[in-house]
Amino acid sequence: MSGTDDSGAVTIPVGTACGKVILLGEHAVVYGAPAIAAGIERGAWARARRIEEGPSRLSIPAWGVLVHEGDPGDLGRAFAALLTEAGISGREAPVAVEAEAQLPPGGGLGCSAALGVAVARAIEPGAPEAKLAARVAAWEGVFHGNPSGVDAACAANGGCVLFTKGTGVEPIRIGAPLHLCIGNSGTSSSTKEMVESVARLRARKPDVARKTFDGITALVRNARLAIEAGDTFALGRLMDLNQMLLSGLFLSTPEIERLCGLARDAGAFGAKLTGAGGGGCVVALVKGEEAAEPILEAWRSAGFEGFTTSVLRVERADVALGGAP
Ligand code: PMV
Repeated sequence: MSGTDDSGAVTIPVGTACGKVILLGEHAVVYGAPAIAAGIERGAWARARRIEEGPSRLSIPAWGVLVHEGDPGDLGRAFAALLTEAGISGREAPVAVEAEAQLPPGGGLGCSAALGVAVARAIEPGAPEAKLAARVAAWEGVFHGNPSGVDAACAANGGCVLFTKGTGVEPIRIGAPLHLCIGNSGTSSSTKEMVESVARLRARKPDVARKTFDGITALVRNARLAIEAGDTFALGRLMDLNQMLLSGLFLSTPEIERLCGLARDAGAFGAKLTGAGGGGCVVALVKGEEAAEPILEAWRSAGFEGFTTSVLRVERADVALGGAP
């Protein structure tokens, strides 16, 4: 797992991964519709080293978190599931992993997937993609129950992709830069609970759910064309329409609507919740870096935090992330 460099010093592998925004298609993606997601510069890193005595442990010092393999909470169980999938579970080959995420947990920016990818990469840096995916799926299964896999795909590869459950990712060629403002509604949500709430609504009103997912599918197809054509204005309108459909699934909140409204009033092409909803973050599409400032200012004045980001064009996130040691 660790090696030595030319000078003989011990090197500790660092795994990185990026966060993501879902530009269109969340929730419908769980039921087979395509979604468009994009990696962002903020993400997660982890480093791993073997230790003499088990159990294996995972620490996230910035959050004051330390868990051991076998601990009952979600993080401890996810860590154990990842180690088991990697075949290094148990006390024979314990590891100590230290990680950090630059993403709000439960904020819809793929924090858990980014951490999972970073941890998996730190534990075995050269692991084939299929093995990495299986390890992260085991980790994500604990947090999400029934994840579509879109978060993990983006965390591992960055870029702008069309994701379909069971089929995987198809890169989308970006015709014009995609500048985004991300606003935090100030509350987090559980993706698992939000996905379950949509499942309950679908069981109660299958027609409503089907029509909504069909509508989202049409928006996603058009959005792909808009991204390829560099038509950011059209993309913004499609994001607004997606937000309306997500509100119809009871995934929006007053804070999310406020953030979206403030962004549109301050010049955004479009704005919507991103990820699971019920709290978390909003993504607004803006013309350029300068156009972002009035939106961030409007959010700040209303008591919301935000930041700007651009969609990563890189194929692999591990060459592009800042903040890793
Ligand atoms: O909230 P996040 O970042 O975990 O995104 C969830 C996206 C969903 O479509 C709601 C669920 C999924 O597994 O795709």
